Amino acid sequence: MSNYKIVYCLLVFVVVFLGCENLLVEPSKDEKVQFVAPAHFPEPTYTFKNNPVTQSGFELGKKLFNDPRLSRDNSVACSNCHIKALAFADPQHDFSVGVDDRIGIRNAPAIQNMAFMKEFFWDGGVPHLDFVPTNAIENPLEMDETLIHVVQKLNGIEEYRVLFRKAFGNIDSINAPLMLHAFSQYMNMLISANSKYDQFYLGKTQLTQNEQKGMALFKQHCETCHSGILFTNQGYANNGLDTMFLDLGRALISEDGRDIGKFKIPSLRNIVLTKPYMHNARFATLEQVLEHYANGVKDSPTLDPRLKNNGKLGISLSKEEQQLIIEFLHTLTDKDFVSNELF
Ligand code: HEC
Ligand code: HEC
Repeated sequence: MSNYKIVYCLLVFVVVFLGCENLLVEPSKDEKVQFVAPAHFPEPTYTFKNNPVTQSGFELGKKLFNDPRLSRDNSVACSNCHIKALAFADPQHDFSVGVDDRIGIRNAPAIQNMAFMKEFFWDGGVPHLDFVPTNAIENPLEMDETLIHVVQKLNGIEEYRVLFRKAFGNIDSINAPLMLHAFSQYMNMLISANSKYDQFYLGKTQLTQNEQKGMALFKQHCETCHSGILFTNQGYANNGLDTMFLDLGRALISEDGRDIGKFKIPSLRNIVLTKPYMHNARFATLEQVLEHYANGVKDSPTLDPRLKNNGKLGISLSKEEQQLIIEFLHTLTDKDFVSNELF
């Protein structure tokens, strides 16, 4: 909980600073990297007017993302828990592992298509992409640093002084809002929009018969939550993992009992790569996930009504149907995204 309080204090601080900083900063004009929303995607939620992506800002963000010096003991970078080859998820740890091998409380999600998301974290506790790195840096179970100290460290490194000037014009010193903007420039570029499904959606390729059958089943049973081209309606739901919730989920943020056990409905893009599954890494395989929806859904007061039809728990799916849905989910893997040299 205290994390979120920190975030909200910083929110005020950052908003105040972002306002002034726009007047001071002229991004350099070396744009090879540009943010272009894919034509078949919705409008981005991120306000690029306040923080346009530039090549040097993007490269700075990438360097920060991969730099362990941002953690207390210089051992943990963002990229320790968000691994590019796996759509920036963490396959090795059920719960993420930070400095001093401290174990976190949730599974690290993928980072993709962030520019289109409204809220961040499994409980939606972070309302803006610019605030996400603060939470990771200051979380004692992740990087256990303070924002102020990170900025001090960066100001002491000549290379960063040069890179920040390149990205943000003639600034006196590095400050937190600029660092957070660089992070967002990098993360906003991490767009996954070229899976086989995208190709199919754009009429450039066909799906196999089984993939089509799986897609039809998916539309029938899953799409109400994992909706649209982003494969999430960006809402919160209790999908029946437990009867009692140690992690209250969305209720931690809303402080509303009706949200106990609800978590952000995750995108299913690149889902084959981003195991283990669910906020608490409950399942190691997609087979287990489908078995859960078919036969494992547990009842509780906040269970989503879509998973309780006429008193029967779960979604009625034969083993064969489960397998067809998994075949369809394989079409959401975007090899170009995970092998993109730029990222
Ligand atoms: C120790 C592992 C760890 C480190 C280091 C880490 N993260 Fe994360 N990240 C997580 C976990 C776990 C979550 C989910 C947090 C939650 O839901 O409470 C997360 C969530 C996120 C999200 C939100 C994704 C979404 O869909 O909601 C973004 C973006 C992100 N991290 C970026 C970063 C950045 C940038 C850094 C470095 C400044 C970083 N992370 C460092 C583990 C880590
Ligand atoms: C009522 C809304 C709802 C429906 C319907 C639904 N899901 Fe989910 N799904 C969720 C939520 C919420 C989560 C995250 C739960 C958590 O972590 O506690 C989730 C998580 C997942 C995950 C894990 C994602 C990850 O990154 O860990 C997969 C895979 C998944 N669902 C597949 C499906 C499939 C396939 C169907 C249809 C058979 C389906 N879902 C139907 C709400 C739903």
